Amino acid sequence: MNSKNNLKKVVVLGTGGTIAGTASNASDNIGYTAAQVGVAQLLEAVPGLSAVLQGHALVSEQVAQMDSKDMRFDIWLALAQRVVQHLSQPDVTGLVITHGTDTLEETAYFLYVVLPAELLKTKPVVLTCAMRPASSLNPDGPQNLMDAVAVALTAGAHGVVAVCAGTVHTALDIQKAHTYKPDAFTSGDAGVLAYVEEGQVRLLRNWPMANRHQSVPSLEVAARTTVWPRVEIVMNYVGCDGAVVDALLGYAHATAPLRGLVVAGTGNGTIHKDLEAALRRALQAGVKVVRSSRCANGPVLPAAHCEFAHSEGLSPVKARVALMLDLIGR
Ligand code: SIN
Repeated sequence: MNSKNNLKKVVVLGTGGTIAGTASNASDNIGYTAAQVGVAQLLEAVPGLSAVLQGHALVSEQVAQMDSKDMRFDIWLALAQRVVQHLSQPDVTGLVITHGTDTLEETAYFLYVVLPAELLKTKPVVLTCAMRPASSLNPDGPQNLMDAVAVALTAGAHGVVAVCAGTVHTALDIQKAHTYKPDAFTSGDAGVLAYVEEGQVRLLRNWPMANRHQSVPSLEVAARTTVWPRVEIVMNYVGCDGAVVDALLGYAHATAPLRGLVVAGTGNGTIHKDLEAALRRALQAGVKVVRSSRCANGPVLPAAHCEFAHSEGLSPVKARVALMLDLIGR
């Protein structure tokens, strides 16, 4: 028999979000303040959690307590470092992160890129969240948390995934697609990874591979980067004349000048000719330009004669994370 101290563990790291939010009125699902309840208290409020723990001990740690719209690079690094520290322990089976829904896909993608592949090959990092605050008449956080723990303890689970509304998405594919509904995420064309039903994971495709990007900085290198490269997102739309790009080029920030631009093009990454001309000026000024699409589904298919790099299927916000990391890794 294991004593309490040598039980296998599942670790839950808290970062805030609506899952930890409270409102003064239980029927108010929008006028709440995110990030009010600590992660240990959230876990205590999940009835029957022991049913999915399979004898594992539960360890929790508050890494941050914030509304994810305000997420910062230093918190990302601290989070990634805590994930590595915990997952490197042989007695830790898997790890869950509670996070706001608004930037969950960016954090998931960041972790997918920077966490060491050898850890992600055998162990899961499971982000989860809620669309209703903890004080709601009908909070979705407790079920999401229970499902996330079930995923983290599923035999063979590995890689960075996210769980919301009984659905499991990979870090690469997840995108917030709804402003209000509890089932707020999609995996687009790729389709969801799995469903969680009564604590059981029904897998629809293989657990995700570790990241495929070449020029990724190690966590140590990223942690030494005091000022992250400025990469902004510009969008194509009717009448877009590239003035935003020219303004960004003329914006002489002392410590963080413009290093990269992701263009959320129309359709298959098409760009108004005037915006295109401004982006060409950016290229000539040494700014990297990556072409993505404002469409919710489908990759930008690379055109034969396009001078801009393409986003390799990433959404604009994820392409921005990839480009920042690429610039740090050079
Ligand atoms: C947040 O992203 O922190 C607030 C919104 C949410 O979690 O749904």
